[in-house]
Amino acid sequence: MDWGTESIGSFMTKHHNDIQPAIDPGTVTQPRPFIVCIVGAFRSIGAGIAHAYANAEANDLVLAARRISGLEQTAAQCKQINPNIDRKVFECVISSSDSVKAIAETTSAHFGRLDVLVINSGSSGHVVLDLTADDPEELINASNVNYFGTFLGVKYFVPLL
Ligand SMILES: NC(=O)c1ccc[n+]([C@@H]2O[C@H](COP(=O)([O-])OP(=O)(O)OC[C@H]3O[C@@H](n4cnc5c(N)ncnc54)[C@H](OP(=O)(O)O)[C@@H]3O)[C@@H](O)[C@H]2O)c1
Repeated sequence: MDWGTESIGSFMTKHHNDIQPAIDPGTVTQPRPFIVCIVGAFRSIGAGIAHAYANAEANDLVLAARRISGLEQTAAQCKQINPNIDRKVFECVISSSDSVKAIAETTSAHFGRLDVLVINSGSSGHVVLDLTADDPEELINASNVNYFGTFLGVKYFVPLL
């Protein structure tokens, strides 16, 4: 499946795509029920993690990011991989305390608990090597998403784990 990473390996002439048995999620049996929340589940690594849990027969996936349309793509792909999976998609801004708290509360109300939390949302902003030319808002946003966002995810979801 295309996780939006197609161009990353374009400079390499030889690609290795086989999944070794030791890391093949299809060989894993989860205890049931098994509930996974992935923040940043639209495209790239986050979609890949969702696919892996769908392959490993997790029963319930909570998929979150800012764009619902992207999450719906990931959710549909997971259903293709594992028709028995239940998926919930939620709009979430990881740097917003209210937003993360709301998803944790909805997850708690719906499932009662959580087995795995993946905080994959991340931002590197526009990388500028000249400090004097850097846009401070880019750095502030990256810190809010990567640092404070991770704190908020842990704060509100750890009680469910
Ligand atoms: N890909 C790499 O080679 C690489 C290498 C080193 C580290 N990383 C790190 O690994 C993580 C994932 O990488 P990736 O390549 O999968 O990144 P990506 O393609 O940019 O995906 C980021 C995910 O996070 C969501 N997101 C971004 N900002 C958010 C916010 N404020 N609140 C909630 N969700 C947000 C995005 O969806 P929306 O935009 O819809 O919100 C998307 O689902 C990032 O933290 C990245 O820095 C990646």
